[in-house]
Amino acid sequence: MSYLDQLNKGGKPDEAAAKPAPGAATPPDTAEAAAAAPLITTVDLKREYEDAGVRETLEELDRELIGLKPVKKRIRETAALLLVERARRRLGLAHETPTLHMSFTGNPGTGKTTVALKMANLLHRLGYIRKGHLVSVTRDDLVGQYIGHTAPKTKDILKKAMGGVLFIDEAYYLYRPENERDYGQEAIEILLQVMENQRDDLVVILAGYADRMDKFFESNPGFRSRIAHHIDFPDYSDEELHQIAVGMLARQNYHLTEEAATTLASYIEHRRAQPHFANARSIRNALDRARLRQANRLFEADNGPLDASALSEIAAEDIAASRVFLQKPGQTADQARPARGPEETAP
Ligand SMILES: Nc1ncnc2c1ncn2[C@@H]1O[C@H](COP(=O)(O)OP(=O)(O)O)[C@@H](O)[C@H]1O
Ligand SMILES: [Mg+2]
Repeated sequence: MSYLDQLNKGGKPDEAAAKPAPGAATPPDTAEAAAAAPLITTVDLKREYEDAGVRETLEELDRELIGLKPVKKRIRETAALLLVERARRRLGLAHETPTLHMSFTGNPGTGKTTVALKMANLLHRLGYIRKGHLVSVTRDDLVGQYIGHTAPKTKDILKKAMGGVLFIDEAYYLYRPENERDYGQEAIEILLQVMENQRDDLVVILAGYADRMDKFFESNPGFRSRIAHHIDFPDYSDEELHQIAVGMLARQNYHLTEEAATTLASYIEHRRAQPHFANARSIRNALDRARLRQANRLFEADNGPLDASALSEIAAEDIAASRVFLQKPGQTADQARPARGPEETAP
């Protein structure tokens, strides 16, 4: 029996046997692959757009999020840029890994976190980040209390975020100029380094109020120069908040009676003028309370068996009972809270 036969029969394991024979089931090296693969001369962008699921993600964004026109436009533009960039790379044209770090500025409840999640998903589908998850942090997650704690904390978070998006909420708190020895500076330096050197594997999104973010960038030009996309999230109009409410309820299989829809419109007007108004988040909280009142109303009424429609309906009184209607402008919620809670009714 020849040596070769022996090998084929799986006999005599030796060094030669441990090495796979040429053409065996190992991936060919890249030079070979390039020679074998047909030369690509065109790229069908529309097809890529479909196949990568980019269209699906953008349509979902359009459908699920009310308003945000400028934000949606910026996201479509980013998607186009990345698709073209990828096509150029495949055709061997000069290309550069685009810088995708971003800042999302706007008041609370304007959709920054929600859009960041969608963005992470989109960047993943475009092949820009490996995993597409979002790690959301604030200063306390990055900065330690004692000397030597900050670097390991920041690096730990960065490790978790690699291959995805690191979302830093109220990022300006990292920088505290009034405190000379603030550990935030240490976190900033590590972040800046990673944002520069690992930008093909991590996207950082800084979020917060527009004015504070502007000041932060003024004092930290390193951040400003690493962030290519600034997206502003405007406050929602009353009309948009109403639509957001209807959408949130529909997703939970609830709906408003006609009268309740009118009461909600009035609620939104009142709520906006009061302290701690937080756009869509205030709406979400208001709906939580309306559902609570609805449940109590149904329970107390005790009118026998209830059908799906009765269980799904939010009535005007479920909204009108809110203390938002008792409050005068400038008054805090506590000042307006009536002594007799349960009998709270709309004026
Ligand atoms: N345009 C929108 N359409 C529908 N729901 C929205 C919209 N914007 C925000 N929301 C909802 O409002 C809530 C607060 O949004 P969030 O993204 O956390 O705001 P931010 O991060 O700006 O404070 C979330 O429940 C979110 O789903
Ligand atoms: Mg948020």
